[in-house]
Amino acid sequence: MNERLEAIKGNIIYAEALGELTVMPDSWIVTEGGIIRGIFGELPERYAAAETTDYGDMIITPSFTDLHLHAPQYPMLGLGMDLELLGWLNKYAFPTEAMFSDAGYARRVYSKLAHALIERGTTRVCIFSSLHREATNILMDELEKAGVTGYAGKVNMDRNGSKELIETTEESVAETRLFIEENKDRKLIKPILTPRFTPSCTNELMEELGKIAAEYPDIPVQSHLSENTDEMKWVKELHPDCAQYWETYDKYGLWKNRTVMAHCVYSDERERAAMKKAGVWAVHCPDSNTCIASGIAPVRTMLKEGVKVAMGSDIAGGAKLSMLDVATEAIRVSKLRWLFGGKRDEERFLTVAEAFYLITGAGQEYFGARPGFCIGDRLHAVVFDDRGMADNPRMNLSERLERIIYLGERQDIKAVYSEGIRRI
Ligand code: GUN
Ligand code: FE
Repeated sequence: MNERLEAIKGNIIYAEALGELTVMPDSWIVTEGGIIRGIFGELPERYAAAETTDYGDMIITPSFTDLHLHAPQYPMLGLGMDLELLGWLNKYAFPTEAMFSDAGYARRVYSKLAHALIERGTTRVCIFSSLHREATNILMDELEKAGVTGYAGKVNMDRNGSKELIETTEESVAETRLFIEENKDRKLIKPILTPRFTPSCTNELMEELGKIAAEYPDIPVQSHLSENTDEMKWVKELHPDCAQYWETYDKYGLWKNRTVMAHCVYSDERERAAMKKAGVWAVHCPDSNTCIASGIAPVRTMLKEGVKVAMGSDIAGGAKLSMLDVATEAIRVSKLRWLFGGKRDEERFLTVAEAFYLITGAGQEYFGARPGFCIGDRLHAVVFDDRGMADNPRMNLSERLERIIYLGERQDIKAVYSEGIRRI
């Protein structure tokens, strides 16, 4: 580990809690060996020897977290959007993922994806691979090389796949064990158990995954929950003994603290209470939920009830990799839900500051850091240069952040730091 003393200067904005923005104009973040030592208006004398980078009038925020996306769907971004979930999986997702039996292809696509994430300011992810172990290892290599941290999972699917995208129960279990052993000592990207969703996994497989989860208590679980009404009907047919979808995971020991469940569009009060009780995280993926016409998740209600919520791009159900786009989509759909959901008094739409927290602070917490820029945490930050946008001297700093969230593009990102190291 380098113990370099560094200091970066700019207009610092972060969210320590839902809806709370902290704005520190013209301030310094000091790091030592990549670890934050403090934020200061003037660089303190004791840090006078620091290597400094002055970003002038630019805006520095925590980098983004994407808690749900599918790496092998990157080549089908923006395809198949006339379909709903189950048809889309069969016609687009499964054939695309099947191509990742080819390690050379995986290397090419995953190298691009890893850089695309970093270039858009995403430095922490919970990411699905395909069922292929070799391609999953390649994905982890490429993410680490680019500086993307978090969790990646080899997908489990031993039923209802396609001829070219399916594994036997025995293969699935053996490959998962090998995948964990090969990757558990990585520094930046750790393994996560990834049963695709209940219809993809036999009861025998779920049971074995539950055993693995118990053997490796530090390895979390990620999957999908209550995304689409046809999917939910199917789950009910497959598990008539379970009153609700979540119980199909709970039955096998996969519903536990830090389990990540994407979507939760149709999670009702009982399912949400089960999430809160177990410490399961809901990942809101608004762009996916509109693109493949799944619905609008009750985010305001989940937040009010104290369910842990973070945000995901869910590419390629979602068509946008940038978490800035995901944040604005979350705001838009929350307004539609507020307008047309019949609960105007209870479900106020999301504000910009709230959406900003959900793509930064919420995910920071999932990964064991504290929201914002906290002393002792490693620096994960994005530096925005908004001079490419129209000059508007009337804007204050939080308005400039709002405009960046709505309009920001790759070219407006000047620098990205992950684990204290500047990556672009
Ligand atoms: N449910 C099971 N697999 C998938 C997937 O690949 N994408 C989405 N959005 N939902 C799923
Ligand atoms: Fe998904």
